[in-house]
Parts: sequence; structure tokens; C-alpha cells
Amino acid sequence: MLALRPAPRVAGHLRSQVPAFRRFASTQAPSSPLRRGLYATAFVLSTGLFAAYYFDARSALHRYILTPVLRHALDAETGHKLAVKVLKSGLAPRDRGHDDERLKSQVWDQELSNPVGLAAGFDKDGEAIDGLFNLGFSWVEIGSVTPKPQPGNPRPRVFHLVEDSGLINRYGFPSQGHAAVLSRLRARIPPFQPEHDTAALRPGSVLAVNLGKNKESPADSIDDFVTGVCTFGPYSDVLVVNVSSPNTPGLRGLQNRDLLEKLLNGVTKARDQLPVSPVTSRRPKLVLKLSPDLDEAQIKDIAEVLSKSSIDGVIVSNTTIQRPKHLKAPHRNEVGGLSGAPVKEYSLKALRALRSHLPASIPLIGCGGIFTGADALEYGKAGASLVQVYTGFGYDGVGACRRIKDELAQELEKEGTTWSQVVKNAVDELSLKEHRQSAPIPQSAPIPQSDAGGAGTISQLICDAQELQGLLEKLEEKIESAHS
Ligand SMILES: Cc1cc2nc3c(=O)[nH]c(=O)nc-3n(C[C@H](O)[C@H](O)[C@H](O)COP(=O)(O)O)c2cc1C
Repeated sequence: MLALRPAPRVAGHLRSQVPAFRRFASTQAPSSPLRRGLYATAFVLSTGLFAAYYFDARSALHRYILTPVLRHALDAETGHKLAVKVLKSGLAPRDRGHDDERLKSQVWDQELSNPVGLAAGFDKDGEAIDGLFNLGFSWVEIGSVTPKPQPGNPRPRVFHLVEDSGLINRYGFPSQGHAAVLSRLRARIPPFQPEHDTAALRPGSVLAVNLGKNKESPADSIDDFVTGVCTFGPYSDVLVVNVSSPNTPGLRGLQNRDLLEKLLNGVTKARDQLPVSPVTSRRPKLVLKLSPDLDEAQIKDIAEVLSKSSIDGVIVSNTTIQRPKHLKAPHRNEVGGLSGAPVKEYSLKALRALRSHLPASIPLIGCGGIFTGADALEYGKAGASLVQVYTGFGYDGVGACRRIKDELAQELEKEGTTWSQVVKNAVDELSLKEHRQSAPIPQSAPIPQSDAGGAGTISQLICDAQELQGLLEKLEEKIESAHS
């Protein structure tokens, strides 16, 4: 107290002696009720706007003002980069709502609080993972990440098709490369809490890393994907093998039967040989991401290869190279992959076809043109266990996920059902009615009860057993040579 006493004297002295201070002080004092009223109004408005910005991701401010203004003021790529920066900074709004019980979803042994995920391509370098989870997505997929850093195609390479609620991009996998993204994933892990349920580091959520391929890697090589599995396996819940982006020459050729077989063998073997993750004490699931431009025969071929592999799921779909006749936007003929509302019909068609050729044990994740809860429900009824959004998020802004979830919960309530029930009915009804073909199981091998129907786990057990057998044989050889 004593130490503080001289302060008022100093302030009083200053006030009387320094003319600049007097001028400043006089301009600060609200001199009339009108001015006081204006200050109060400005304060209330700015506090209200901040509250609407920060506390309510679903507010009209985001959907009808901030997002469209940014879309008009900035080119598509600059807007995208700014959005990633804001989400990375921690200053972005959060989804403060509660996920309705009806939205509970199940994929593999993982229970999620809702079925809405963010698709790959938004956070290519894993910079804003937590900001994105904070928007309410249960699945955040970063990437595509390529082994070596690469710049992607020249700008401009992203185009809004506002009139069609679509987007065309020909990014061509700009990526900071495996090392940079890996160091970010490692930095997220808190040092004194080594074990978590998921690599997302939050319950009921999944972190996926989407693996891409460098432009100069040989078209038929699978090495970039195998390296990706080894690099990101310990830090992800799911690894996505992306063979469907139209902007990397030759990439989609890996969807052809023989190459796909080689690819799936390579990546599943690499995954099965990984030590369990130090973060989750598990190995990641492996998911393939397909194009919507496959015909029925190609989808049937792919389904056969998938059924024989130990892949865990499929995302349908990536962007399309097709251009429906009804497109109106001036940029509709730009080269690249088309996404948003126009791709939905193609994605859904491919998903339905694949569902009918795949056994129920392989879950599908629906992606393409999802803007509303009704869109998401359409995918659920086609047999998708989860859905993903990209372009809808770009158009509707930070509240997109919460809005889709709320609308979906309302739709489900109207129909008196739940997401899990919708998916179960669709998968039971629409999937191939056959048991998944896995490697022959020796008669003597007991099948654990909990694995009934989990052919992926069974084939993994078989792989582990074969590996053990190999080790035993080597040991035997060594013992024999030591004796002789
Ligand atoms: C600008 C942009 C970049 C994308 N980049 C990737 C990518 O790097 N890897 C990938 O697998 N998919 C990528 N995609 C495809 C999306 O993940 C998604 O599959 C596709 O856009 C369909 O969903 P949507 O209609 O909700 O956007 C990208 C899409 C857009 C619009």
C-alpha cells in the first residue's frame, strides 16, 4: 500500500503539467450522453459480433457474411490458405453443441460421436488438426502427403463454381513432404501421457493421414505408399491410400486390377509388420480412396481384389473428371477434379455399386457433394458407415459440420431411427451376401470368438503366425548349423 501512495500525486502532476496528456484525457472523456450512447452501442455490437464469431460456429455471421465476403475478396487458394491459418492459430470458432445420441456411429471397433468427417485436401500438411476437430468433425483426414516435398501445379489451380455449388481443383498434391508432417504429428503428442485411445488424442474421434505419391515417382510404383505406411502408421488411426486424384499423371491407373493387387499386398504387409503404435497401442486401419469415374465392371474387379486383401475400408469418392451438362459457372471447363454438388450423383452411384459387390465386413465411407443432413442420410441409406465433407465446408464455413449434424439428427428423429440403425439396415440389405474370401485357415487354428466376421483381423493373425513360423525356421537352421 505504502509503495503505491505516490502514484496519484504523479498522475495528478502529469495531468496539470503535460498539455498533451490534457488533450488526450479530454478526448477520452465521453462529454455528452450521445457520445456515451455511441460508445456503448459500439461496445455491445463488437462484443456481440465477437461472441457470434467465437462461440457460435453456426451463426449467420459465418455462413452469410464472413465466408461469402472472403470468397469474393480473395482467390480460392488464398482463401483456403487463410482458413487453414486461422484454424491453426486457435482463434477459430468452436462447435459448442452436443452431438445427439442418434448420431452415434461405429466403424471397426471404434465408436464415434457422429458420422461427419472432414475429407482430405483441406489440411494438406497437418497444420490445423485440433482446430478442425474443434469444429465438431469426428474424423479429420490430413494430406495428401507425398514422401518428398513438392510444389504441385502452377497457380491458378482452384476455381469456385458458385452457380453450381461446386469447385474444380488441379492442385496436383502440393505437399511439405513426410518429414515436415511427421514432425507436426509428433509434436502434438503430450510428453507425459504416452497412451491414448486414438491418435486423434480425443475420445470418439479418428485422425487419418491420406497418402499421396510424388509426381516424378514411376506410375506403377507402390513405394511411396509403402513408405507412407511406415512413416505415419504410429501416429494415425487410419491411413488412406489415395489412388484416385485426377491431377497426378498415372495415379488412377493403380485402380486397375493387377496394380491394385500389388499395391494392396504391399501396403497391408507393411502395415502388418509395423510394431504397435506407441500412441494408441494398435496398428492403423488401412483404407483405399476411389474415384467416382469407375464403371460397373471396374468396380466389380476392384471389389474382388479388395475382398481378397486385408484392407479395412473404402472411401467413395474423390473428385470427378466428368462435366455434367447442367453446369453453368464460367469456370466449368477448367481442367481438374470437380467436387461439390455436381459430383454427388457419381459418388453415390459408385458407392452403391461397390456396396453390392463387397461383403458387409468392409465398411464404406461416403464422400462427394454433401452439404446437408439429408445428403448425409442419403449416403447412410446407400450403405456408408460414415460421411466426409470438403466443398460443403468451403461454401458454408466453420458451422458446416454442426449444421449437417443437427439436420441429420432431425431427419433421423422424423424417421424414428438412429444413424447406426440406418447403416446396419442398408449394409445388411445391400452388401454382397457372401463371406469375405480370406487366406485358407488351417483346421487346427482356433478362431477367437470376438473375431467372428472380422476377416481383416484373422488374416492379420495368419500373417503374424507366418512371420513367427519363418523366425522359428531360421532359429532351427541356426541351431542345426551350430551343432554341425
Ligand atoms: C481443393 C481440393 C483439394 C483436394 N485435395 C485432395 C487430396 O489432396 N487428396 C485426396 O484424397 N482428396 C482431395 N480432394 C478430394 C476431397 O477429399 C473429396 O474427396 C472430394 O472433394 C469430394 O467431396 P466434396 O464434394 O465434399 O468436396 C480435394 C478436393 C478439393 C476440392
